Amino acid sequence: MPETSSLDPALLRTLRWSAATSAFQIEGARRLDGRGRSVWDDFVDTPGLVADGGTADPGPDSYHRSGEDAALLAGLGVDRYRFSISWVRVIPDGAAGGAVNAAGLAHYDRVVDELLAAGVVPEPTLYHWDLPTGLEAEGGWLRRATTERFAEYAEAVAKALGDRVRHWYTVNEPASTTLQGYGNGELAPGRTLLFDALPTVHHQLLAHAHAVRILREHGAEQVGIAANHTLVLPASEAEEDVIAAGMYDIVHNRVFADPLLLGRYPDLEGLGAELPVLDGDLELISTPCDVYGVNYYNPTTIRAAAEGPLPFELVPTPGAAHTGFGEMWPIRPDTLRDFLIDAKERYGDALPPIVIAENGASFPEPGHVDGPIDDEKRIGYLRDHLAAVLEAKRAGVRIDGYTVWSLLDNFEWADGYTQRFGLVHVDMETGERTPKASYGWYRDVIARSRA
Ligand code: FCB
Repeated sequence: MPETSSLDPALLRTLRWSAATSAFQIEGARRLDGRGRSVWDDFVDTPGLVADGGTADPGPDSYHRSGEDAALLAGLGVDRYRFSISWVRVIPDGAAGGAVNAAGLAHYDRVVDELLAAGVVPEPTLYHWDLPTGLEAEGGWLRRATTERFAEYAEAVAKALGDRVRHWYTVNEPASTTLQGYGNGELAPGRTLLFDALPTVHHQLLAHAHAVRILREHGAEQVGIAANHTLVLPASEAEEDVIAAGMYDIVHNRVFADPLLLGRYPDLEGLGAELPVLDGDLELISTPCDVYGVNYYNPTTIRAAAEGPLPFELVPTPGAAHTGFGEMWPIRPDTLRDFLIDAKERYGDALPPIVIAENGASFPEPGHVDGPIDDEKRIGYLRDHLAAVLEAKRAGVRIDGYTVWSLLDNFEWADGYTQRFGLVHVDMETGERTPKASYGWYRDVIARSRA
């Protein structure tokens, strides 16, 4: 394990620093100011789907405490803040020609101004999983028309904020939406379509492409997707495990990155899947972006499935320590380095500079605290992953930025409040924020990068 002091200052200096959150996970205020309903409202309101029955409201209550959050970001010294805009605050019913809700947009107007006043560059994500319920009822991301609704939403946001916001992410983790939202039902909208979920890949990528064009028309200088990737490890050298790992690599990584970066889909025939591609789509989807956002948490070990509807199964990664999520979130920073180096080899010049758009870890932590938590395991996780990023840079991968998930403890989707990822502890009953030791660690790394 490298010491923090061994992180090469010359390389640290080349990175921009950020911390991330998302609207549904931090805002609370689900019924305020004309906000509509998203698939996540439906998910949390269905008893039994969220581990601890958490409802995301009030959660960290950032709808009312965004000024405090801006001050925490300024204290960290980050260059940027990655937060997300809620589609259903802006267009509450999500419908075609749906009216823009001025009160909803006004919230983000305030957030942007608070950040700029604090010296932090806003880098919002347009879509972090909160699809309007009405659109899901019509097929959601399985349906091409959803991409047009997304374009209308992107236009409304860009028009309102484009005078001050120049850095944007389009779509967060399309792989999570496809695999867990529509494939196995672990996330909203909770559908279990297995490989029939794959059309959602194409529609999310099209939505991304529409947003890139629209944001640029409104003055954007840096636009990219935030794609979650994982290094796929076969459970053994046996041919069937290697083949199964290759298939998983396709559905988690390549079915997203190949069309974005190479303008073509990998061969999906072995999966019996076809994508609803129309003429011109792939040119649009492969419009070069300014950055490629990579969310990275852990590798995935795959073996051939003995039975069941899928050809692969996810198994624990042998010999690895793990985070609060248990053995399916192994801690293997070396796999981040290897993933980044592989990406450079696979995509070459088609790969724009990478920004690590999320990286972080949850560990068991109390709901109430009397002072700063000494979260040394989180510090170790972040330090070792940052070291892996620097190693990839040393090997020639262009990487411009690093983002910690998350600024705050927040609503961790189907796991409710059982998994805390924050640099800052949040008491979900009082909203009180208490920086953890990792907050001080990150602040010092950033300061060292500028020394
Ligand atoms: C990512 C999500 C983010 C958060 C982290 C832990 O998959 O983008 O919202 O939940 O995982």
